[in-house]
Amino acid sequence: MDECVVIKGKRILLIISGGIAAYKGPDLVRRLRERGASVRCVLTAGGAKFVSPLALSTVSGDKVYQELFSLIDEREIGHIELSRDADILVVAPASANILAKMVQGQADDIATTALLATDKPVVVAPAMNIRMWEHAATQVNVAALRSRGVTTLGPAEGDMACGEYGMGRMLEPVEIADALEAFFRDRERLSGRRALVTSGPTLEAIDPVRYITNRSSGKQGHAIASALAQLGTETTLVSGPTREPDPTGVRVIHVESARQMLNACEGTLPVDVAVFAAAVSDWRAAMEASGKIKKRPGETTTTLDLVENPDILATISSAGNRRPQLVVGFAAETDDVIDNAARKLEAKGCDWIVANDISKAAGTFGGVANTVHLISRDGVENWPRLSKATVGERLAKRIAQRLTEAND
Ligand code: C5P
Repeated sequence: MDECVVIKGKRILLIISGGIAAYKGPDLVRRLRERGASVRCVLTAGGAKFVSPLALSTVSGDKVYQELFSLIDEREIGHIELSRDADILVVAPASANILAKMVQGQADDIATTALLATDKPVVVAPAMNIRMWEHAATQVNVAALRSRGVTTLGPAEGDMACGEYGMGRMLEPVEIADALEAFFRDRERLSGRRALVTSGPTLEAIDPVRYITNRSSGKQGHAIASALAQLGTETTLVSGPTREPDPTGVRVIHVESARQMLNACEGTLPVDVAVFAAAVSDWRAAMEASGKIKKRPGETTTTLDLVENPDILATISSAGNRRPQLVVGFAAETDDVIDNAARKLEAKGCDWIVANDISKAAGTFGGVANTVHLISRDGVENWPRLSKATVGERLAKRIAQRLTEAND
């Protein structure tokens, strides 16, 4: 597919917030228009300190929207129409302040009001001083936005206008334009596709009080479901008990046990792709006691009979004509990560295994980052250490690519 074709004719609402990188706004507008997109600009009061509305209106060929309560703007096109009229909202640069306002749902100017009033995809390109970027408040805000379906581009590492070096520089306009093109291309590839993702641990009751579970946080599975939904896939997430919020735009089925998870998964078929990121308990109590099991006097040891749980990944991988076109399993390994995962690919009959190192040193369980290897019958891709959100986005893009190749 010609890359430029997918961005041609797209209507981009570009929100420029306060930060020195705002001066790159006209260059970004020019590059997007060169590729055939139409760009309408919203400039915040802070943004207007760094770039002139005249420069933006000249390159965009449209007026620049700055006032929420402007008689003229509201009569011509109100803030609701601004987002209704767009295919995508892009905030570049996105200051720490506008990210915080987006998290809180503030709507005190035309930019934040358009962002609150939209159901269109939202992409942010953060730009700020390194300490503002690394501040816990900003990191929490960015994570919250990502879990609500906002796509982040960058920031990059480099020299900053404040004289410091580090993370926080806005991506270059050409990189943002390339990323938006890729975003539209992947959405086109995944539109009309259905995905199933499992996430979190399972919980296997022993009696009404006790249960068997594991340390899975659900962060990775939820991030994958969120990334697939951001790319326009109709996504169902079957999740065991986690503290993660339900990702925006995803149908979530909450379950506890492995057997409930299997039933819910089977109920969502047919799907085009299924990703099994849940840490399913291999065993459950042979008999769930109806009353609380009592400790007997003098008892210092006891035994619990366990029976094997169904293997959801293996079951769906061999579902005959209901088998998804692409089945992806996960392998959490503490040693010989790649060899063990490659064996699992065969044993389970899936197409890809995402292998991750869960040794204590890797800090994967419950952590925000993950080092994974994507294993298929064509070979092994070693991914660098990435946040779980980025692993989710990268996997969603690989899925888009694979489903398209398979149909060519
Ligand atoms: O065998 P192991 O548990 O290491 O395999 C991991 C993969 O298999 C994961 O994708 C997990 O979601 C899936 N699995 C499953 N049902 C089970 C056990 C694991 O779907 N009962």
